[in-house]
Amino acid sequence: MKTMLKLSLAATLLVATGVVCAANPAALEKDNPLKPIPKSPLGIDSNLSELKDPPTPERVRLGRWLYFDKRMSADSTIACATCHHPEHAFSEPTPVSTGIRGQKGARKAPSFINQAWTIYPHFFWDGRAASLEEQALGPVANPIEMGNTHEAMISTLQGIKGYAKYFKEAFGTGEITKDRVAKAIADYERTRLSGNSPWDKWRDGNDSAVSAEVKKGHELFFGKAVCNQCHLGQNFTDSLFHNLGVGWDADAKKFKDAGRVAISKKDEDTGAFKTPTLRDIAKHAPYMHDGSQATLRDTVVHYNKGGTPNPHLSPKIKPLNLTEDEITALVKFMEALNGEGYMDTEPKSFPK
Ligand code: HEC
Ligand code: HEC
Repeated sequence: MKTMLKLSLAATLLVATGVVCAANPAALEKDNPLKPIPKSPLGIDSNLSELKDPPTPERVRLGRWLYFDKRMSADSTIACATCHHPEHAFSEPTPVSTGIRGQKGARKAPSFINQAWTIYPHFFWDGRAASLEEQALGPVANPIEMGNTHEAMISTLQGIKGYAKYFKEAFGTGEITKDRVAKAIADYERTRLSGNSPWDKWRDGNDSAVSAEVKKGHELFFGKAVCNQCHLGQNFTDSLFHNLGVGWDADAKKFKDAGRVAISKKDEDTGAFKTPTLRDIAKHAPYMHDGSQATLRDTVVHYNKGGTPNPHLSPKIKPLNLTEDEITALVKFMEALNGEGYMDTEPKSFPK
């Protein structure tokens, strides 16, 4: 009993000290240190240092705080991390997101691992943002996500005296602008890499890194099931838009969410959404832009029957005639894409 009491007293003291130290730059910086820009893990051929404007340790550190800081929202309840959780590969395990004041959105929060390199610069399910910088400002002012205005977000950050030092460190002066906020967050996102999965190790020559079933799934993915028509390259996405019939309402004869057409205004983009990455896919069920497929197996079954017929179904989607064992092999293949390199936890303290 006595030891228990002593222990909990010690814990309370530790927590109390932590809080006091948060105002102190040394403790704050120890909790969110400057880190070298990560090298790409096995399976990712591009390196962040080769980008035109590569991320810097100073911008990434600042971006990490901003990413997890709830004070970015109108009522200090929602941060980017509220909907994009590190442990779910920066997606979340619910069909749609819940933003400020409990409001539900209409789409699933996608993963943004390995987004430093996209074949086409399309962000969001409908590709309405052209860069991670442009994307990052969207949720702040979205009335059902963070519910803020950019002006109010900037004046809140300007009011937090401790941030100026880190804007200066990252950008040369302490000035806080929305472009700087966007750049720092985007650079943090760029460092969320995923690779070195069992599948990457196998491709690199380690024959025992995956099971025979995964190897069979690989053959199917790139063969009979032709998944690589759209899920291609190191991040398993063409970053283009396709209609699989997800969200088609056969009675009303329309899509609940029309997707890409709202941006491109091209009729053939009705019901089309961006191909998502399949890396770490097992970490964030349910699937699709509306979270309508509960499991990876359900998703493969959807493809196996040739998607959901509708007037705009992609010509690439056809019945696949996969057996039950082949469906299982494809699922095992996707499970072998769980990688490493992106994990993070919320910083314990923030600038004050
Ligand atoms: C309330 C939940 C919520 C919050 C808060 C939120 N997001 Fe999102 N995020 C989503 C949803 C939902 C989508 C998909 C929306 C769409 O496509 O229309 C999305 C899309 C994205 C994408 C696009 C990924 C891709 O593959 O195109 C990125 C990147 C992203 N969010 C980063 C952020 C950042 C950075 C913040 C903080 C500034 C943030 N999100 C805050 C829910 C949220
Ligand atoms: C015609 C292009 C295309 C082909 C072929 C294709 N996919 Fe997809 N895939 C997509 C698109 C687009 C989405 C998102 C659709 C939506 O949400 O409306 C998607 C979504 C997924 C998802 C859910 C991802 C998430 O984050 O929710 C999985 C899993 C998946 N595909 C696996 C496969 C497998 C396995 C195959 C082969 C059997 C395959 N795909 C073939 C384009 C394609």
